[in-house]
Amino acid sequence: MVSLASAPPVWLRDNCPCADCRDPRNGQKLFQITELPGALAVGAVHDARTPDGAPAREVVWAPDGHRSVYPEAWLGAHLPGAPAAPGDGRTEDDKELWAPDRFAGGLPEADWSAYTTDPAVRAAALDSVLRLGFVLLRGVPVRDRHVLDVARTFGYVRETNYGELFEVRVEAGPNNLAFTGARITPHTDNPYRDPVPTLQLLHCLTNAARGGDSGLVDGFHAAALLRAESPEAYEILTRVPVPFVFADEHTELRAHRPLIGTDPAGRLREIRFNNRSIGTLRLPAGLLDAFYAAYRRFAELLLRPELRLDFRLAPGDCLIFDNTRLLHARTAFAESGDRHLQGAYADIDGLTSTLAVLRREASAK
Ligand code: OGA
Ligand code: ZN
Ligand code: ZN
Repeated sequence: MVSLASAPPVWLRDNCPCADCRDPRNGQKLFQITELPGALAVGAVHDARTPDGAPAREVVWAPDGHRSVYPEAWLGAHLPGAPAAPGDGRTEDDKELWAPDRFAGGLPEADWSAYTTDPAVRAAALDSVLRLGFVLLRGVPVRDRHVLDVARTFGYVRETNYGELFEVRVEAGPNNLAFTGARITPHTDNPYRDPVPTLQLLHCLTNAARGGDSGLVDGFHAAALLRAESPEAYEILTRVPVPFVFADEHTELRAHRPLIGTDPAGRLREIRFNNRSIGTLRLPAGLLDAFYAAYRRFAELLLRPELRLDFRLAPGDCLIFDNTRLLHARTAFAESGDRHLQGAYADIDGLTSTLAVLRREASAK
């Protein structure tokens, strides 16, 4: 039998599942924390059953006499001291950090027709995005704007000043180096936005130019290496807000965020790294020196060939990746050649939700 001795009364009461405390139609709480008695105490505890017959413990509360019935299974899983609480899926704790040799046996990929028809294939592909940071869909129809349909298989397109989608090809008067044949070193997109687009899709329509190979780096793995190799540099990069900026004729965007974002427990949660859009830092001279030394160290680490997964997109490939974790890159290509990708942004909350519902449906079968 589960003991309630470890449970702070206010926590236990806040989790009362009764119909007065939670709307049975949606599970949402019906009371404010301020409406609970200030000096709550567990009055009596009895063995009980839930309405569907599962073993439970009933608490009679002092001073108000309220009654709460907690399933034993819920208590076993949630009382303080129970096995570690799952995270929200976004920090390093919930990821498999990788170096490229992880994919010696092949990239995480799925065939478009299986992806769209088989929920298990779709779930495995979405799981790869959460766990490894990316998946490569193959055999996606080579059709203008189809990247938007890919995004809609798991979530919602994030429209930006670049439009619903962006064309990655050589342009006259480019407002971004991406729209030239230049090499692009590992970076995350749009760090000058807050919130940043958390997912990116790149759909290859043509890749006939010499060059233009793709690269991915696991930014969480790289940051974890920096933490181990140069703890002071890591610490500075988690602490110093960097002014990221983007401006063109119609747009002026700015976000001040550190290169390495951590959660309140200090776990890696978000990488923002883009040498093209770092503005002018305004800090005391000593801190500027320390920041630049740390920034350079992290940049050197991100350029290590042994951290970079190299591959080449072919027409019909669509790469989906976590823009808060992976850095993407491409080699230079001949501007005379034909290379055309269509990109779009989306968000990871939608993908996570789609996967959770797919899993719920699979377990209900
Ligand atoms: C971009 C980009 C990669 C590529 O457009 O942001 O990184 O392969 N493009 O062209
Ligand atoms: Zn209640
Ligand atoms: Zn990019």
